[in-house]
Parts: sequence; C-alpha cells; structure tokens
Amino acid sequence: MKIRKAVIPAAGLGSRMLPAAKTVPKEMFPVADRPVLHYIVQEAVDAGIEEIIILTNRCKTVMHDYFDYTPELEEKLRAAGKHAEVAELRAIADMADITFVRQKQTLGLGHAVWCTRRIVGNEPFAVLLGDDLMRSKTPVIGQLISASEGFGAAAVGVQAVPRSEIGKYCSLDVTHREGNVYDVHGMVEKPRPEQILSNFAILGRYVLTPRIFEILENLPAGHGGEIQLTDGLNALCREEPMVAVDFEGERHDTGSLEGYFRAMLHFSAEHPRLAPVLAEFLAGRDKK
Ligand code: G1P
Repeated sequence: MKIRKAVIPAAGLGSRMLPAAKTVPKEMFPVADRPVLHYIVQEAVDAGIEEIIILTNRCKTVMHDYFDYTPELEEKLRAAGKHAEVAELRAIADMADITFVRQKQTLGLGHAVWCTRRIVGNEPFAVLLGDDLMRSKTPVIGQLISASEGFGAAAVGVQAVPRSEIGKYCSLDVTHREGNVYDVHGMVEKPRPEQILSNFAILGRYVLTPRIFEILENLPAGHGGEIQLTDGLNALCREEPMVAVDFEGERHDTGSLEGYFRAMLHFSAEHPRLAPVLAEFLAGRDKK
C-alpha cells in the first residue's frame, strides 16, 4: 500500500536546548536560512508524502504560522518588487497538506505517535522525528519507503553508533538480509551496557503499520516513565515483518547544542551567502 501520510513528532520540551528553546521551539531554530522543521517537511514531500501530521504542544503555535500565508508581508514585498521572495513564502505554505495535532501532556514519543491514530487511520505511515535533520542524496524516509514496499515490512532507519553512545538511543537485534537491509527481531530503548543487542540504533525515521496504534494503546510506561515508541516496535517486530535500513546520509541531532551547531556548519558550508563567511572565519580573516 502506498505510503501517503507522515507523522512528525515535534512536541518535546527542548530541555537540552535551554535557554533558547524556552520560547522558540527547537524545531524552529534556523539551520542556514530556514528552520529545522522546513527541512523535515521537505524530506517527506521529496519522498512523495501527500499529507503531513505535525505533533505540537501549547507552546509551539509558531509552527502553524510558518506553514500559513503571510498577506501583510507578501503585500510589502510585492510593493517593493520582491516577487521571488513572495513566491518563496507562498511555496512554503503550499508545500504539503499539514494537519496539527496537540499532544496535551508530554508522555513520550510512543504516546505522541498514538495521538495521531484517528488522522492516520488504517494505513501504513512514515514517522520523521522533528529534531533529527538529515543530509543525504536520496531522502532518508524515501529509502525506508522503498525498503518497506520492496520487502512488505515495516522499516526503521538505522546507523551503527559507537558502543559508548548507544545508551542515548535504542539498540537493535538484527540479522543481515541483503545489501544495507537487516531483519529486526527485537530492540531496547536507552540500553544499559549489559542490554546492548548491537551497535545499530534507530535514528529518527520509521515506516510503520497501523497495528502500532493498538500496541501503543496498551503499552505500559518504559524508560524515563514515558510511553516509548521503541517498546511498541519491539512488540510489533515480533508480530509482523520489520526491516532495518542502514541508510545513506548524515544525521544531525538538532535537539542538542553540539548537534545543532554541527548542522549549522554543514548546511552553512553549502549555502551561497554563508559559505564565504564561514571560510573567512576559518581562515582567521573574519571581516564582520
Ligand atoms: C528517540 C528514540 C530513540 C532514538 C532517538 C534518535 O530518543 O526514543 O529510540 O534512537 O530518538 O532518533 P530521544 O532522542 O527522544 O531521547
């Protein structure tokens, strides 16, 4: 079945990005010239997604505004002859059909995904975490959609992370299938050293079947007292086929200060106006 819908959980509190995230959602922090969320929506659209469901909370209405029209601003720009800018602003608002869903309580990623069950309905769907920013040749979620369709399975995007880091993610029990694809047999969220199953961790991209909603509905709280998507997937992969795709692309955790800064450097180095500024700074010739 064609994957038409994508869920973007973006309702976290941004507690690793304070004080900046106190009033501005971390998903709205700019990387080069646009917010993180813009790139994530673009990735989904580039992969053929038609409908996007963004999970927000009561502090994040600015995310709604970003994907709306801005008549006053457009009028000013038009009067100044800045038609390319007007077209660009319009294109952002027309990028996709976006629905916003409030997660009223911060009860975890699994709960956030569950909150979208009525809008997603009874069809497979993609999930793109709102702070995992990708740089890749092919949209990472598109790589997962191809694998999901090709293997008739749910799919998760993984990369090997150093053993010392895996406790920050989840760890997967996998066997090699072919190429960059593995069969998934189990997984554990935020593993302690003795719980590590492999160095493969899911990095923010999923293609799931609607069965996950029923599983999440009855799932007890897991790590950190939150409803964990990983616990739901651990149950799902025992009932239905699930593949892990060791995806092509570079992942940036923009929910951490260091990851955000690295994303800024990588994306700015490719931006026509920012690249020269970065080069001058690195050469010790910053003009100011
Ligand atoms: C979440 C998931 C985790 C995943 C990570 C990176 O953790 O729960 O399984 O590995 O994102 O995408 P968080 O970053 O919210 O702690």
